[in-house]
Amino acid sequence: MHSDLEGPLATRPATTDGADRRIAIVGLGYVGLPLAIAFVEAGLTVEGIDADAPRVAALASGCSPIDDISDDRLVAALARGFSVLAPADADLGAADAVFVCVPTPITKSKDPDLGPVLAAATLVREHLRAGQLVILQSTTFPGTTNGLFREELERTGLKAGRDFDLAYAPERVNPGDPASAAKGVPRLVGATSPDATARAAALLRHINDDVRELSSPEAAELAKLLENVFRNVNIALVNQLALLCERMGIDVWEVIDAAATKPFGFMRFTPGPGVGGHCIPVDPYYLAWRAREFGFVDRFVELAGDINLAMPRHVVDLVAEALNDRGKALKGARVGVIGVAFKPNVRDARNSPAADVIAGLGSRGAIVAYHDPHVPTFRAADGERLETTPLDQLVSGSDAIVVVTAHRAVDLARVYRDADLVVDTVNSSAGRTVPARRILRLGAGWNV
Ligand SMILES: NC(=O)c1ccc[n+]([C@@H]2O[C@H](COP(=O)([O-])OP(=O)(O)OC[C@H]3O[C@@H](n4cnc5c(N)ncnc54)[C@H](O)[C@@H]3O)[C@@H](O)[C@H]2O)c1
Repeated sequence: MHSDLEGPLATRPATTDGADRRIAIVGLGYVGLPLAIAFVEAGLTVEGIDADAPRVAALASGCSPIDDISDDRLVAALARGFSVLAPADADLGAADAVFVCVPTPITKSKDPDLGPVLAAATLVREHLRAGQLVILQSTTFPGTTNGLFREELERTGLKAGRDFDLAYAPERVNPGDPASAAKGVPRLVGATSPDATARAAALLRHINDDVRELSSPEAAELAKLLENVFRNVNIALVNQLALLCERMGIDVWEVIDAAATKPFGFMRFTPGPGVGGHCIPVDPYYLAWRAREFGFVDRFVELAGDINLAMPRHVVDLVAEALNDRGKALKGARVGVIGVAFKPNVRDARNSPAADVIAGLGSRGAIVAYHDPHVPTFRAADGERLETTPLDQLVSGSDAIVVVTAHRAVDLARVYRDADLVVDTVNSSAGRTVPARRILRLGAGWNV
């Protein structure tokens, strides 16, 4: 496809006044689907495209795969013209603006895998026409939008900044936390020119009240990574403090609560069984990889990664220690895991530390079952597939229970009342009256 346009800016429609009203979104997951629904609800015409055929069928029939979008909201959006299509049926050329919200995973050796982003870029390229705005929204290292992504689009012969606009606008949604999707949460955008940035910002202002325009896609890409590296490093800091507190016989949870009374210069992070989800265990490695291309080793990222990755193994050690106190070995013990989603009150189990906890327990001879009302089946890190066990059965049939994720929907009061032995990795026993020497808390020791 070639541009038949001659002059540079004169060829582009004057669109910073919010004239972009037809949107296409490639990738309808935790990020793309809420974005699509928000634009539909703002009165824009939205076409959604996803490569996963069962997901397309489910969405088209009004069945939402994510917690934050109810079926009712999805059905209402479909009734307002939201179309959900497979890539082969996509009509991206009809869109004024195309968002790309596909996954950005890492490989086994923790290098960025831009395969889905580049596959999406190829799809966009096949339909690209002059005057369009393309916005990459997937989390990635600085230089992706203006590098490989742009190169793929420009294989059309069309040039970013001259024939089409190209922007990067990171997402801040935090699944399970409706406040994170509020219109007042600032959004960042940086594009290949100030005009393009203003155009992308105008579009985002349909769904967000506070859009901040940055000088470049690179600044926006790096700002997103900084947010997640900051979290990962601070979680590593308190995880390491938890290990120290166990040796010192000090309760890390009390220490953190005490420090958090400082009204300035401190932010509360809590230890736990490890980090999970699509962002925190993944995004920092995008920065570390990119840094190495500049001859720079980002030691904070590597160190935080090491500490957080070691936490599931520590949880296995705590279970062994708890059983030992009862004169039992981990080998042959029945261990019940509570919560396998990567955080409370969601069904998202991607990269959950529970996968390593379960595999680690199994590799040392334990017989493991789990209960999670949000996750009916779960694959451990060793590939074993398990099905959720009813809570009663899990509690009565286990030599030890380990709480990995404390969902509201789990009756933890009952667990702490009826279980013989509990390893609590998230301080879910705080404030409960339970018999002494029954709970081993991560970062604190025995509950005596
Ligand atoms: N989940 C979050 O909380 C969150 C928050 C901020 C940013 N992000 C970032 O947003 C991006 C998307 O994350 P997500 O959580 O929405 O992922 P997801 O896995 O929930 O959704 C991605 C969707 O893209 C589809 N897809 C993959 N390749 C495709 C292709 N070539 N063409 C069309 N569809 C394709 C998948 O089928 C899937 O439905 C990632 O870069 C992630 O790091 C995620």
